[in-house]
Amino acid sequence: MTQPLVRVEGLSIETASGRPILRDLSLTLGRGKTLGLAGESGSGKTMTALGVIGLLPAGLKTTGRIVFEDNPLPDANDPAWDDIRGRRIGMVFQEPLTALNPAMSIADQVAEGLVRHRGIGWRQGRRDAVALLDRVRIPRAAERAKNYPHELSGGQRQRVGIAIAIALRPALLIADEPTTALDVTVQREILDLLSELVRDEEMALMLISHNPGVLSYATENLLVLRHGDCVESGPTRQVLTAPSHAYTRGLLEAIPRGSHRQRRLPMEGR
Ligand SMILES: Nc1ncnc2c1ncn2[C@@H]1O[C@H](COP(=O)(O)OP(=O)(O)OP(=O)(O)O)[C@@H](O)[C@H]1O
Ligand SMILES: [Mg+2]
Repeated sequence: MTQPLVRVEGLSIETASGRPILRDLSLTLGRGKTLGLAGESGSGKTMTALGVIGLLPAGLKTTGRIVFEDNPLPDANDPAWDDIRGRRIGMVFQEPLTALNPAMSIADQVAEGLVRHRGIGWRQGRRDAVALLDRVRIPRAAERAKNYPHELSGGQRQRVGIAIAIALRPALLIADEPTTALDVTVQREILDLLSELVRDEEMALMLISHNPGVLSYATENLLVLRHGDCVESGPTRQVLTAPSHAYTRGLLEAIPRGSHRQRRLPMEGR
């Protein structure tokens, strides 16, 4: 049997003062598969993602291990991360504006990883960057490439974040709330783009969202976190339609009225 791409085994994270952030979390994600992480604000979704990409804030105590492509991931600050982060694991960060460099054109930001890791020059890097921006459907990519992040819409910045994350064709893409704050149409376009990348590039996707519609649209399996504990996991459909845990039922009910459209729209056509 082939090994899963990612195996998180008993991952626990606590603060320096001993406050638990994540407790004994285990999960697996197969190559080309999709997994959603759900849970209320502060439940540990981003921390789980940062653990997998080796970017946990300094000072936290971590136990357990994460196996990726059959090898345990290195400790933080190990130079071995250079071959993994950005190359084998890409991440779209929760805040696209803070994740992007405000003083660098988007072409250069997308080209940077290519130049550093592919041994190509900046001229070629920028050309490849335009192709990537086109791939994530930034309109008039060649012109747009010269823009700075603040000159783009929220949806376009998310696309740039995705272009950077997929530039080196990672085996795993982690997307942390990639569609929050976007209108429903753009939200759906971004999810379709992610699903297309999963299909065409055989990329695995770990998708973090508090929106059940988004998770149901784009993930096969789902894990629900509460105060750092996994309270439920299984096929997304099953977890969302017949949640066994009161907390998950609460999460589904917590969607404010008026956002039903938002919840339903991404699921249409399924
Ligand atoms: N640098 C840090 N040091 C200590 N604790 C932190 C740090 N960053 C976050 N935390 C704590 O870790 C817990 C989990 O936070 P996390 O960011 O993973 O939540 P989340 O599920 O992603 O929430 P949201 O939906 O709001 O993004 C929270 O209690 C948070 O206060
Ligand atoms: Mg978060």
